Amino acid sequence: MEHRHLGRSGLSISEIAYGNWITHGSQVAEDAARACVEAALDEGITTFDTADVYAGTRAEEVLGRALRGVRREAVEIFTKVYWPTGPGPNDRGLSRKHIMESAHASLRRLQTDYLDMYQAHRYDHAAPPEETLRAFDDLVRQGKVLYVGVSEWRAEQIAAAVQIAGEAGFDRIISNQPQYNMIWRVIESEVIPLCEKEGIGQIVWSPIAQGVLTGKYRPGDAPPPASRATDPSGSSFIQHYLTDDLLGRVQQLKPVADQAGLSLAQLAIAWVLQNPNVAAAIIGATRPEQVRENVRASGVRLDGELMGRIDEILSPVIERDPARTDSPARRS
Ligand SMILES: NC(=O)c1ccc[n+]([C@@H]2O[C@H](COP(=O)([O-])OP(=O)(O)OC[C@H]3O[C@@H](n4cnc5c(N)ncnc54)[C@H](OP(=O)(O)O)[C@@H]3O)[C@@H](O)[C@H]2O)c1
Repeated sequence: MEHRHLGRSGLSISEIAYGNWITHGSQVAEDAARACVEAALDEGITTFDTADVYAGTRAEEVLGRALRGVRREAVEIFTKVYWPTGPGPNDRGLSRKHIMESAHASLRRLQTDYLDMYQAHRYDHAAPPEETLRAFDDLVRQGKVLYVGVSEWRAEQIAAAVQIAGEAGFDRIISNQPQYNMIWRVIESEVIPLCEKEGIGQIVWSPIAQGVLTGKYRPGDAPPPASRATDPSGSSFIQHYLTDDLLGRVQQLKPVADQAGLSLAQLAIAWVLQNPNVAAAIIGATRPEQVRENVRASGVRLDGELMGRIDEILSPVIERDPARTDSPARRS
């Protein structure tokens, strides 16, 4: 497993990270979750990503239990705040109140004294960024959070945050966590140039488009049993990828993967890692075999000719519009 620095920071993370959205505390039972974490550790993954909201807060608990006994210094634990974790108006968003309460709840559930990375899971139009960034900075000064980042923020929102932090002397954002894969490339035109300039790294989610880029979903066929597309909590998220045109084009990538000596999943993960602003691809898994297959993408170099063939095949289904980076509408 190769490691990369996250943005311009001193923090080193595994270029393939393991995340537990949809899976822990929901789609998979605790023993399968534990087996995936053990496979990840065994394969050299040191970076683990979760969020307060996943599986109604159960995902953090499962990860906390799975990592119990692992030397704390040997792993980087990332979590997030923003989406609702309770019924009240202050159980969500990026107010100082919710950030402080949710950070403490995450520390308890993850059974740790500190979080390596704390991320704003979306942009909150109802909270002044100064309030959010000051609360993040306070957590850093208290030693409860080591680094701060954002997720799915637009270039202009990241730029404003960098400026505010610079003027106020707050701890600086070092990472953004966007969706990024061969099909979903909305960060390329605005977010990545800005982040390169500001020393911010991307830790990208759904590098295999939730399983679609493995080729296991075939045009015209029902989804394979026990896949995300058949899971009650996962199926709505994957639907937008399940068109016959897109699935047919993914099948056409098979000879490209064969030429590179990779599986389709490995090709897709290696593809995101070719971007030098990407510090890590966060993979999900329901079975340890998936982790073991996917980590083989670490260290793979894809040449220009092969990258060009991928673009030719996928061109009509690639999404590039930066406006697709979006957070729920502002408060009315
Ligand atoms: N910041 C955000 O807003 C945000 C949003 C989403 C995710 N994330 C983060 O990113 C992480 C990864 O997201 P993701 O789970 O969508 O990533 P992904 O790696 O694109 O998809 C993972 C899913 O694909 C299937 N799969 C994985 N490897 C496979 C293989 N070799 N062969 C066949 N199927 C395979 C598995 O589902 P099945 O076996 O069920 O088919 C697995 O759960 C999350 O856990 C979370 O940490 C962040």
